[in-house]
Amino acid sequence: MRMHYNHVPITRVFYDYRRQRSEPVDLSAVAAVVAALNVPVLTNGDARSLAEVVAQADVTGAAGVMAARGLLKNPAMFDCAGVTTTSVECIKEWTRIALECGTPFTSFHHHLIYMCESLLPRAERRVFNSLASTAAVLDFLEEHFDIRCPAL
Ligand SMILES: Cc1cc2nc3c(=O)[nH]c(=O)nc-3n(C[C@H](O)[C@H](O)[C@H](O)COP(=O)(O)O)c2cc1C
Repeated sequence: MRMHYNHVPITRVFYDYRRQRSEPVDLSAVAAVVAALNVPVLTNGDARSLAEVVAQADVTGAAGVMAARGLLKNPAMFDCAGVTTTSVECIKEWTRIALECGTPFTSFHHHLIYMCESLLPRAERRVFNSLASTAAVLDFLEEHFDIRCPAL
């Protein structure tokens, strides 16, 4: 059977990981890929806010924009309410969902480290980053953000 390029999903454009991973995203390259193909293309890289998501879609013509680090920091990043920083309400809701889902401690803690980064002074961040149990994290969230979660 002869495969035509538009019959297979293109999952990613390969690049030199070691050399390029710290470089900013090249939106003109994405725009060139979008222009060359007749299939929906998603772009990814350096979208840290909803405004940047919209701008990237505009500049590249991509059908969608994915984000990793921006969403780790602010899971409500795609919320259209216009909130541009991580809110305590977002942390509270994320914590509730994560506990309900039985998220393993390492993932639970790691995600919260990203979310709390801009809300805590350096010394407090160091304390938070060194916590070793879900109970200790919940105590910290209650003490610093008045976030109360049901007992485990
Ligand atoms: C915690 C984390 C884990 C990631 N894991 C992978 C992975 O397993 N495979 C992969 O191809 N990219 C991985 N990435 C790269 C992201 O998919 C994305 O391409 C990169 O972070 C750039 O997008 P961003 O600027 O929105 O973060 C990871 C990124 C982060 C932050």
